[in-house]
Amino acid sequence: MRKFNALVTGASRGIGAAITKKMRNAGINVLTPSRKQLDLSSNESIDKYLRTTDLPIDILVNNAGINLIATGSEVSDQNIVDTIQVNLIAPIRLVRGIVPRMIQKRYGRIVNISTIWTLVSKPGRLTYSASKAGLNSITRTLAVELASCNILVNAVAPGYTNTELTKINNTKDQIEEIKKLIPLGRLAEPEEIAEIVYFLCSEANTYITGQVIFADGGFVCQ
Ligand SMILES: NC(=O)c1ccc[n+]([C@@H]2O[C@H](COP(=O)([O-])OP(=O)(O)OC[C@H]3O[C@@H](n4cnc5c(N)ncnc54)[C@H](OP(=O)(O)O)[C@@H]3O)[C@@H](O)[C@H]2O)c1
Repeated sequence: MRKFNALVTGASRGIGAAITKKMRNAGINVLTPSRKQLDLSSNESIDKYLRTTDLPIDILVNNAGINLIATGSEVSDQNIVDTIQVNLIAPIRLVRGIVPRMIQKRYGRIVNISTIWTLVSKPGRLTYSASKAGLNSITRTLAVELASCNILVNAVAPGYTNTELTKINNTKDQIEEIKKLIPLGRLAEPEEIAEIVYFLCSEANTYITGQVIFADGGFVCQ
């Protein structure tokens, strides 16, 4: 069996940790740099990581993300810069550094972790939604650019998922209310999102590219 190398950002917990576990169980060599090794808020750190990582990466999962809640009338300059940097500029820089070797090998799988807030919205999601909508957009462009090299690029847009991020941005009572708004009646578990990401990153995915796949228990259908 072919041995693949993957890079998963934001693998310390939540969805990234579940994706990593799923891939490792399938025999994939997964790089999971800590924030000290790869700080996505710093272009210097990203460039250094790319310079010092020798392995050809076959699978890139741009999972790390931040969601700094602020409305359009109150959003700070720092929020704008940080959110766009971590959620959009960092993935673009990683793609730019990693894709040339995928092109050489004529194989690659890229999955960007998006959100339901690119399709529907909620007060306070201004910069988060904008950054992730950008991620959807680069997903489609890269899919078109890289298809001839057998590099498939997709996004997975989770709904409310049972992670630290959701617990930080919503109280326990709010989470109970949110469950009532989800047709499936519960949050997603990180492992459920990881299953979809794993499929899109695997050799079994031979024809899906340029798609944003919503995994939200039916939330955006209402
Ligand atoms: N949870 C949800 O309901 C939900 C819904 C839709 C989409 N998403 C998206 O899914 C992805 C994962 O979400 P999650 O809920 O698993 O998040 P999480 O529990 O908050 O974990 C975020 C991960 O990103 C890393 N990270 C944040 N800023 C970083 C930086 N500057 N440099 C390097 N790493 C950084 C964190 O690393 P540290 O350990 O160093 O902090 C952590 O590993 C995100 O892109 C999020 O937007 C989540």
